Amino acid sequence: MKLQWMAVLVATLACAPALAGGDPAAGKEKSAVCAACHGADGNSPTPMFPKLAGQHEDYLVRALTDYKLKNRKNEIMAGQVEPLSSQDIADLAAFFASQKGLVVKK
Ligand code: HEC
Repeated sequence: MKLQWMAVLVATLACAPALAGGDPAAGKEKSAVCAACHGADGNSPTPMFPKLAGQHEDYLVRALTDYKLKNRKNEIMAGQVEPLSSQDIADLAAFFASQKGLVVKK
């Protein structure tokens, strides 16, 4: 009986970080709407739209959260982040950060 509880506890702890962090695969699916401006992998086709590919994950989370909280004001992005949950933001950030782009990955 005790062993079963241990197993449940271990399984729960093992899952916790995965839930808290962003999931790049989920982010890829959610990024379809972003592709029109920022490019499918976050390498924007024009300097009008900032590149997201390879940007630091925490920077992306911060930027998107700031648009949502109106700490950073931009009419276009305000409309984009409006429907996003904090999990969506984490997933999108994880996806764009994992793409080849701004920051050279070793
Ligand atoms: C209609 C075009 C458009 C779409 C669609 C769009 N964006 Fe943007 N995005 C912009 C523009 C323009 C800016 C620059 C705004 C500014 O100056 O703050 C921007 C800025 C950003 C930034 C800040 C980048 C930086 O370097 O600070 C992030 C992050 C971002 N967008 C993520 C997204 C995500 C994620 C989506 C999809 C949910 C998305 N965008 C959809 C046009 C768009």
